[in-house]
Amino acid sequence: MTAADTEDHIGTREVLAEAGRRRTFAVISHPDAGKSTLTEALALHAAAIREAGAVHGKAGRRGVTSDWMALEQERGISITSAVLRFSYRGMMLNLLDTPGHADFSEDTYRVLEAVDCAVMLLDSAKGLEPQTRKLFDVCRNRNIPVITFVNKWDRPGREPLELLDEIEQQIRLRPTPVTWPAGVAGDFRGLIERATGEYTVFTQAPGGAGRADEQILTPAQAAARDGDAYRAALEELALLDEIGARLDTRSFLAGQSSPVLFGAALPNFGVRRLLDALCELAPPPAPRRTATGHDHPVDGGFAGLVFKVQSGMDRAHRDRVAFVRVCAGRFERGMVLTHAATGRPFATKYAQAMFGAGRQTLDVAYPGDVIGLVNATALRPGDTLHDGTPVAFPPIPAFAPEHFAVVRCKDASKTKQFRKGIGQLDTEGAVQVLSSDLRGDQAPVLAAVGPLQFDVVLHRLEHEFAAPARLEHLGYSLARRTDTGGAVALGRLRGTEVLTRRLDGVLLALFEDKWRLRAIQRDYPDITLEPLLAGTE
Ligand code: G4P
Repeated sequence: MTAADTEDHIGTREVLAEAGRRRTFAVISHPDAGKSTLTEALALHAAAIREAGAVHGKAGRRGVTSDWMALEQERGISITSAVLRFSYRGMMLNLLDTPGHADFSEDTYRVLEAVDCAVMLLDSAKGLEPQTRKLFDVCRNRNIPVITFVNKWDRPGREPLELLDEIEQQIRLRPTPVTWPAGVAGDFRGLIERATGEYTVFTQAPGGAGRADEQILTPAQAAARDGDAYRAALEELALLDEIGARLDTRSFLAGQSSPVLFGAALPNFGVRRLLDALCELAPPPAPRRTATGHDHPVDGGFAGLVFKVQSGMDRAHRDRVAFVRVCAGRFERGMVLTHAATGRPFATKYAQAMFGAGRQTLDVAYPGDVIGLVNATALRPGDTLHDGTPVAFPPIPAFAPEHFAVVRCKDASKTKQFRKGIGQLDTEGAVQVLSSDLRGDQAPVLAAVGPLQFDVVLHRLEHEFAAPARLEHLGYSLARRTDTGGAVALGRLRGTEVLTRRLDGVLLALFEDKWRLRAIQRDYPDITLEPLLAGTE
């Protein structure tokens, strides 16, 4: 073995060891289930921040760091996807935040391309809600294993067995409880660890902003303290044992079963257990399928996937950050990588670690980590960066838009800024930009999954690009992919219009409603009209 071989061998071992202690995950939930609260509680337990709320609490708790976030505050919605990174029990956890509002589900979808596991957060009183189900479907399609956390157990809610039943019946996911609550929701007494029978009781920290104090009781102590509630919980557990709802790693990793934990993020009950579960159960980074159908190994040459591009995160710099998930190899700041889409070299001098709204220079990163590349103007979501042998991951599919509007610059002297802004918002994936010869370059059509995306575009055009604009909504609500033959044929029909998606040249046929679409499909069966990304309509 030569010295270079030995060095390679050590390098491979290091990458595998570091990847093995990475857990990269997202929390999926319906708005108000407690995602922000849980995120803060997790980071608090991992001792990553001093005080809950410092990371990304609701308006008032958060320091405004950009105009962009000012819009979020105004609306009380979460648009930005922060990445939180913290160490816990020798592991490195990367929590990728996803926007809660359904209008930004395309953004969420891209984030889910970059995780290895998801925590499905349920409100104990509400169970599965529409947005949770939609996001769960994305996880299922992508084979992302899901851990379930039933939140708000300190408040009146539903029966735990009923919640399990709902999960099993409605999304065909087999729930396998890891912990079990004693005391009904609203009268929470403690958690039984199913595998060991250990009983943990909690005392809330004053004000709820600290870690809850945990105490482990013997069965005799538990029976003496929580009598009926404890016995009822044991009976329910016996029932679960009978039906065999046991933790099963293989089916969990295959997306067929889900470990279930109970707790309450606000007073910090059961949150530490969730962190432990993430360390023990969530999978480390795995080889990733490339566009050519090969699996690129974790210890192969460096390869990273751009899953999000965002501007205006830092008011002082007005910069544009591309978030890259490291999929393989070791990243070192200063490396010159290749941008697979263009074959051009890409310098990484300005690599940063993102932490909520804060950031710091990042020198080294391993599979599972997220790098923020500052002023990476050439990068778009779905792009691959690699070192050495070329690697390209498949593009991230665009969602089917349902809202369409013409956008015009209000002030003719700002046309240049307007064009630049539209171009940038398009590459970032903030909105899809469509055009046609007929409509011309001055008035592109914006296509969005949800109308709030339009508000973001108008806000950013005005505040970031100094190009105030206005919208004229179009009466379309459906898009289908067509081809040049289809475009010619549809050009002769009413109630439809064909536009080109600027970013990838895909021809989109727009329709007012499904009736018009069906009528055209019935009368002209030869016209190509393919649905866009499945599961989003
Ligand atoms: P989201 O990010 O999923 O939208 O939810 P968020 O964390 O903002 O939580 C929504 C509401 O639920 C918040 O109350 C939050 O305090 C509350 N909450 C979250 N987890 C728990 C829990 O375990 N127990 C209880 N009792 N409440 C919980 P809010 O009044 O809407 O907002 P805030 O003024 O408290 O921030």
